[in-house]
Amino acid sequence: MREINASIPFDKRLWKQDIAGSKAHVAMLAAQGIVDGEDAQAITTGLNAIADDYAANGVPVDLDLEDIHMVTESRLAELIGPTAGRLHTARSRNDQVATDFRLWVRDAMDEVDAGLLALQRALLARAEEHVDAVMPGFTHLQSAQPVTLGHHLMAYYEMIRRDRSRFADARVRMNECPLGAAALAGTGFPLDRHMTAAALGFDRPTDNSLDSVSDRDFALDYLMAGTQLALHLSRLAEEFVIWASQPFGFVKLPDAYSTGSSIMPQKRNPDAAELVRGHAGRVMGCMTALCVTMKGLPLAYSKDMQDDKPPVFEAHDMLGLSIAAMTGMIETVTFRTDRMRALAESGFATATDLADWLVREGDIPFREAHHITGRAVATAEAAGVPLADLPIETLKGIDPRIDERVYAVLTVDASVASRMSHGGTAPAQVRARIAQARAALGDA
Ligand code: ARG
Repeated sequence: MREINASIPFDKRLWKQDIAGSKAHVAMLAAQGIVDGEDAQAITTGLNAIADDYAANGVPVDLDLEDIHMVTESRLAELIGPTAGRLHTARSRNDQVATDFRLWVRDAMDEVDAGLLALQRALLARAEEHVDAVMPGFTHLQSAQPVTLGHHLMAYYEMIRRDRSRFADARVRMNECPLGAAALAGTGFPLDRHMTAAALGFDRPTDNSLDSVSDRDFALDYLMAGTQLALHLSRLAEEFVIWASQPFGFVKLPDAYSTGSSIMPQKRNPDAAELVRGHAGRVMGCMTALCVTMKGLPLAYSKDMQDDKPPVFEAHDMLGLSIAAMTGMIETVTFRTDRMRALAESGFATATDLADWLVREGDIPFREAHHITGRAVATAEAAGVPLADLPIETLKGIDPRIDERVYAVLTVDASVASRMSHGGTAPAQVRARIAQARAALGDA
């Protein structure tokens, strides 16, 4: 029973929040005349001493004391005697743990947000550096149309922007204080729940005591936003793994984020990227775990809910590492833009530009233009040259409506420069988006 019952081995991570919650609670009890001022002072002084001790020496893990709330209360009793027992007036561990965990998750959201801001800045810096660097754009991982590396990196900026907004939404929604709901029904003591809510930085107290002690939406919101974020980081990581492979050779990963092989001296493995990709699966597993824990629980508190913390802690640790590793890789990776350009030029990636030109200049229906272009690609492929290197006689032989002006659209630079539609890959468009993004981050 001791072992299955105890949460102290993991909920010791809530110690700061637990002490902050207790200090707010006892100050309110004193203000309301529920506990006298001297006792409240002794309790506060004791809690401060315990905080100093935890900060210096860690939280002692005593399974008999079950959880962080009991460990701290028993320590307080050792320090100040029976007065310690007044702290828990009009409070239950049910509203206490709900409050502590909300405070912890709120801090976790702020940490993730700070990490993502740094990642966005790294993406913006590298995107700006490579706003003109042409690379193959892919669909089905087949060379499709030329894009720029700046545009490709900015795609991840947009994903991270949405991730930050998901965490921000969740933070607003969760910022209500459950303290004062007591065990489940509220309390007969004349509490001032607005006072404790404000002291702990919440916008207001929660409005239903049963919901207050049963709600773990805030933790699930964190895990769901975290899962979406992990998926984005994993896709970026996967691109790095592919790009670092020899057949691609689009990037040289920094030594700091790769490892050698113990047997093959030439190896430089993209371990950090692979672990970011791997961690995404684990974060999703944490999200699933808490969903399954919660799905069948009747109101109000059940002990199952003690299992809410490990998946959130685990996911948060993995997200922190993934964000940091990805930011470091973005900042320090070497992009082989010469290789990207060579591949963009070799894959007939401007075939769509030829078809579009025939539509525009020859007034040819797109389907027919597509057919003519197919013949041009087959001819170039047979000759082993890019489209732009086919002689004009050859092109005219394919269709007499083609003339010299077509070469202006057959280079990859002309192709990307022409993609001026809103959100398109033209360097002018991407530059404008980078400037907007900088302004949105307050960096402009
Ligand atoms: N250790 C418990 C948890 O983390 C605290 C709440 C216990 N409440 C109770 N009624 N046993 O959920």
